[in-house]
Amino acid sequence: MRWTSDILRQIRPHHFIKALFDPKRAIRELKYRYTFSSGMAFCAFLGKASPPEVRLLFNECSQQQCFNDARKAVHLIKPGSGRGEMGTEVEALYVIVRLVKPEVIVETGVGAGISSTYILKALDLNQKGMLFSIDLPDENDLSGWAIPHELKSRWRLYKGSSIDLLPVVLNDTGPIDIFLHDSNHSYEHMTFEFRTIWPYLKKGGIFLAHDVGRNDALFDFCDEVHILWTKVRTFPVLGGFRKV
Ligand SMILES: C[S@@+](CC[C@H](N)C(=O)[O-])C[C@H]1O[C@@H](n2cnc3c(N)ncnc32)[C@H](O)[C@@H]1O
Repeated sequence: MRWTSDILRQIRPHHFIKALFDPKRAIRELKYRYTFSSGMAFCAFLGKASPPEVRLLFNECSQQQCFNDARKAVHLIKPGSGRGEMGTEVEALYVIVRLVKPEVIVETGVGAGISSTYILKALDLNQKGMLFSIDLPDENDLSGWAIPHELKSRWRLYKGSSIDLLPVVLNDTGPIDIFLHDSNHSYEHMTFEFRTIWPYLKKGGIFLAHDVGRNDALFDFCDEVHILWTKVRTFPVLGGFRKV
C-alpha cells in the first residue's frame, strides 16, 4: 500500500527512541507527518483539480492588490492587531474557494480579517456564495477591520463565542460547503466546533482547521467520524479533508 511505504520512508532513528518511551506519540507524529503537502498538492487534492488549474489560480491570487493592502494595513497601520492571522495558507484558501465555488462557508476566528478577505475575494470572483464568520471580539471590537468594504456584501459576522453562536449560525445557514476553524485552539474547543458542524457539512464538503499540529483534536475527530487519516492533508499547519 502506498501509505505504508510512505510512512516507512519517513521513519528516522529518533522515532525508534521516542517509540520506546511513548509509542502512541511516535505513531501520532508519523501520522501527522504523513499528511504534510505542498500548497499545490493540498489544493489539487481538496479541490479535485489538476496541477495546471491550481497553478493558474495561485497566479490569479498573487495578482489581487486587495490582499497586499489588507496585510500592509495589519502590519503597518495597526501592528499587533492581527491577532495571529494565517500565513501562506490563505492563498490555498483562496484557490480552494475558487475551485469549489461554494454556496455557504462557515469560519470561526476572524481577528483582523485576513483569512476572511481571501475567502470573500474568491466568492466575489465566483459571483456566488456567502461567508458566515464568528469571532470573539477583543476590547476594541474590531473583528474584520482589515476586510475591504466592497467585499462585505457576501459576509455575515456574528460576534461572540462559537460555543454560543455556532449552533445559531448553523441553524441560519443550513447545510454548509466549507468549514474553517481558526478560533480557540484548545483540544476541547476544537472538538466542540468539529462535532457541532459535522452534521451540517455536506457530503463532499471541505473541512479545514488551522494550527492542527498543536494537539490531536483533528486526528481524534477523524477517528470518531471514520475519516482515514490518509485522506487528510496539511499545508503547512492548515489541515483539511473532504467529507465522504
Ligand atoms: C488566530 S485569530 C484568527 C485569524 C484569522 N483567521 C486570519 O487568518 O486572519 C483567532 C481569533 O479567534 C477568536 N476567538 C478566540 N476564541 C474564540 C471563540 N471561543 N469563539 C469565537 N472566536 C474566538 C479570537 O478573538 C481571534 O480573533
